[in-house]
Amino acid sequence: MTKMLNARLTEVPNVDLTLRRPDAEDGAAVNGLIEQCKPLDENSVYCNLLQCSHFAETSSLAEIDGEVVGFVSGYLVPDSPDSLFVWQVAVSPKARGLKLGKRMILDILHRPFAKNVRNLHTTIAPDNKASHGVFKSVARSLNTEFDTEIMFDEEEHFDGDAKTEMLWKIGPFSRADILPALASVA
Ligand SMILES: CC(C)(COP(=O)(O)OP(=O)(O)OC[C@H]1O[C@@H](n2cnc3c(N)ncnc32)[C@H](O)[C@@H]1OP(=O)(O)O)[C@@H](O)C(=O)NCCC(=O)NCCS
Repeated sequence: MTKMLNARLTEVPNVDLTLRRPDAEDGAAVNGLIEQCKPLDENSVYCNLLQCSHFAETSSLAEIDGEVVGFVSGYLVPDSPDSLFVWQVAVSPKARGLKLGKRMILDILHRPFAKNVRNLHTTIAPDNKASHGVFKSVARSLNTEFDTEIMFDEEEHFDGDAKTEMLWKIGPFSRADILPALASVA
């Protein structure tokens, strides 16, 4: 049975952390995790099942002592296969500050399928400081820069129902910088 973690993980010694590709059996747990991670849009379980199956290679799941505490979903941009698009980054409130968000992103970039990936894209709402912190930190560790531009506008695309999503384009980076970046947060 999955062990429940009641304390913040920074207060628990010797936790057993695993980063891995998700699989379909993780879909429901991922859905529950996303619900705990405001301001992320909640997805249908079906959406998370697709992320955990068809998009497993471009997604990463963090588990501590058997409990799902982190998830990054992504895909290769269809017209630009050297760019990984990160859709959502979610870390359980009790596991924040352990570099899990950053580690999961680097875990995906480090996989063999990503050998030709040179850019990381994501969208971030202008007021999401935590997300800014994660992606700035990834850019810094990969020794590269980032540019931003509007991708989905509050009025034009969301009809006033959601905040503007800024596209962050991080890169280009060198494959040689990924392993040292991952090692620095392991
Ligand atoms: C954003 C989120 C994924 C960060 O997860 P995390 O594992 O705690 O972040 P990390 O420990 O990997 O931090 C990586 C960097 O981001 C910075 N960061 C993390 N949270 C931050 C915050 N609240 N404010 C400012 N910077 C923050 C860290 O300081 C670190 O920077 P450093 O390497 O320069 O020290 C997590 O807070 C979360 O799930 N939030 C709710 C959902 C969300 O907003 N997701 C992002 C949008 S897709």
